[in-house]
Amino acid sequence: MTTSRPRVIVTRRLPDAVEDALRASFDVQLNPADRQFTPAELRKAMLHCDGLLCTLTDQLTADLFPAPNGSCRILANFGVGVNHIALDAAREAGLIVTNTPGVLTECTADLAIALILMTLRRLGEGERELRAGAWTGWRPTHLLGHRVSGRRLGVVGFGRIGEAVARRASHGLGMQVLAWGPRELSRERLAAAGARASDSLEQLLSDVDVVSLHCPLTTETERLMDRRRLRLMKRGAVLINTARGEIVEEEALIDALRSGQLGGAGLDVYAREPEVPAALLGLPGVVLLPHLGSATVETRTAMGLRAVENLRAFFAGQMPPDRIA
Ligand code: DGY
Repeated sequence: MTTSRPRVIVTRRLPDAVEDALRASFDVQLNPADRQFTPAELRKAMLHCDGLLCTLTDQLTADLFPAPNGSCRILANFGVGVNHIALDAAREAGLIVTNTPGVLTECTADLAIALILMTLRRLGEGERELRAGAWTGWRPTHLLGHRVSGRRLGVVGFGRIGEAVARRASHGLGMQVLAWGPRELSRERLAAAGARASDSLEQLLSDVDVVSLHCPLTTETERLMDRRRLRLMKRGAVLINTARGEIVEEEALIDALRSGQLGGAGLDVYAREPEVPAALLGLPGVVLLPHLGSATVETRTAMGLRAVENLRAFFAGQMPPDRIA
């Protein structure tokens, strides 16, 4: 059937409300089987759509982009992180790129807080023990963790999510919160979140009991937490990562955990997802989640509808609200 509606190809299955909204506005190709596109399938999609609704499992490298005025004109990313898209090459190819900021802030912050609680209170260990039938009953010295209130939290990256984590940790859990970002932090935002600015990342790392990462993955932040910086953390401190796996040097993290330099880690993201290093699986003080930061019905629906809004605006000849390239 011929249609004058823009042709949109969607690379992953999306919540029902989002797929309905896409059907209502576009000639849409959905992915009900939710099988990840191969590079060849991505290339083909780029040549046969007007817009691609993609996400973080799609590696959109420069070689996939059609020549200017080729078929695809907009990459509407489902998600805030765009490290999987070659942005400069997209610009050169005349492609518009959008993301979905704001709508996943609160849920991702909740998950970071969950990881802080799980690691400090050893909840993953307790759950595994109970399910394994190995719990022998209450005793005064069983699975002792650490008190959360009063502990010092260092928030690395004070964007929307970092700020939301600081607010929860300070006002909700009674933690003392320090924050660091590459640019000067707003005093008002710090005060509202109950946080203080740290002079440098190095200073923050050596001052706090828990470090939580909230920066985007860029060439500047790749391996930001390398062996040297992990060593600057207090002995027994805990690292939380809900941002991107590549921000941490994974091998150095494993060494730091094995040696006891770090007391634990709470990870939602990994350098080579969905691969998780076997060494991490064997470390009891580490809580490992499968990239669930934004995984709520409300947030995933809002992310999808935001991507649809960007597509609708673009094809209506307007500036998409979340254009980043
Ligand atoms: C994002 O939006 O980049 C998140 O990682 C998805 O949860």
